[in-house]
Amino acid sequence: MASKVIKGGTVVTADLTYKADVKVEDGKIVEIGPDLSGDTVLDASGCYVMPGGIDPHVHLEMPFMGTYSTDDFESGTRAGLAGGTTMVVDFCLPAPGQSLLEALTMWDNKSTRANCDYSFHMAITWWGEQVFNEMETVVRDKGINTFKHFMAYKGALMVQDDEMYASFQRCAELGAMPLVHAENGDVVADLSARLLAEGNNGPEAHAYSRPPQVEGEATNRAIMIADMAGVPLYVVHTSCEESHEAIRRARQQGKRVYGEPLIQHLTLDDSEYFNKDWDHAARRVMSPPFRNKQHQDSLWAGLASGSLQVVATDHCAFTTEQKRTGLGDFTKIPNGTGGLEDRMPMLWSNGVATGRLTMNEFVAVTSTNIAKILNIYPRKGAILVGADADIVVWDPAKEKTISAASQQSSIDYNVFEGKHVTGLPRFTLTRGEVAIDDGAVKTREGHGQFVAREPYQAVGRALSTWKELTAPRKVERSGIPQSGV
Ligand code: URP
Ligand code: ZN
Ligand code: ZN
Ligand code: ZN
Repeated sequence: MASKVIKGGTVVTADLTYKADVKVEDGKIVEIGPDLSGDTVLDASGCYVMPGGIDPHVHLEMPFMGTYSTDDFESGTRAGLAGGTTMVVDFCLPAPGQSLLEALTMWDNKSTRANCDYSFHMAITWWGEQVFNEMETVVRDKGINTFKHFMAYKGALMVQDDEMYASFQRCAELGAMPLVHAENGDVVADLSARLLAEGNNGPEAHAYSRPPQVEGEATNRAIMIADMAGVPLYVVHTSCEESHEAIRRARQQGKRVYGEPLIQHLTLDDSEYFNKDWDHAARRVMSPPFRNKQHQDSLWAGLASGSLQVVATDHCAFTTEQKRTGLGDFTKIPNGTGGLEDRMPMLWSNGVATGRLTMNEFVAVTSTNIAKILNIYPRKGAILVGADADIVVWDPAKEKTISAASQQSSIDYNVFEGKHVTGLPRFTLTRGEVAIDDGAVKTREGHGQFVAREPYQAVGRALSTWKELTAPRKVERSGIPQSGV
């Protein structure tokens, strides 16, 4: 296959910044050094050559709240590539009672249209012997090492604590990692009902129904349950100081707990919900909701200090028409916002350009840390010989004003509309193919491949049976004298 040389740029990784050319062939990085030659030259002068972004949290064509999120694997990954993201991780969501493997076949079918590589997290949306058994196949045969648990969305996706504890134990013995959407779904349901009864039915009530305490409580609970199950924990869409504080403290105590702020929470605040235009506010309804500046400052500090490791989007895009299902009842507004195309330019403009993050930290939180946490490093998230040639050639001088009129996403608005960004891809390469060429979109539907992820090491763990898990067991009372108990 013909080779390409990315010439004259500065390589920026999570650790290093240095001048070098990068040669790619057959989808891989084959050489890094001075004065390389190849069949095609991509001019990277004035640019940074970085590992392509990985978005670990997207929902493409997701069945949710009576509808489907509008961006699918084709438009979603095209949007990602336009903004420098070369891999996404979606959530396979079995319907209650549905086989995990059957759901996975549905996700396999949807994802054939992807323009870039992708992987899946498996959601635990119900609990029983079948789920317990299929988790083993999912980890051992299907290349999925992460299981998502929704602590919110009562009556739909929410899992109970006993189910979560059992599932976390199963994760521990399989070498998998649980993820949590950490909000106390019982409290949210109660607050929502009360707000509606009092006549508060607009989008701002969505924010009132999900205060930071519901997130802080659930994050703490999930951390403690994970600790008792002996498993690491990944907290998705960490939006507030209460949740960040719990993660920070757990890490200080030596627990492997990861936190994932979203670009939306970092850059948009809760004043958006008080916009008099119902559509404007409803388009920004997501869970957890946007927070005030104090919470935003906490998230930025966490990224700089390392107590938070990853920036994602939770891209779950609904059209205005879909959002209008919730006119007169905020609990029916489909929850979710877009951001795949804008994550890296918004983070660069609001983080690197302002001095809040270094370039190397930018690479870490948009790519390398994610690859390490998801166990796909250094195939992804690296500029190293042998790594996949998922590369963004980043032009720090390129500017644009974000607008729905020019975006790749299929929805009719953009939550970042009117924001001016400086720093955009000159080229985005997905496994060596140029998908974005100085603004021109050259994506290829179906180019994306599933990335299997190996289990984490589960040292000395034996697999239990469903019977053992559900039978009454002797409690281990660590540190407590056993005699007389
Ligand atoms: O509001 C959100 N975040 N929608 C997508 C589903 C989820 O909770 O991540
Ligand atoms: Zn060749
Ligand atoms: Zn969520
Ligand atoms: Zn999500």
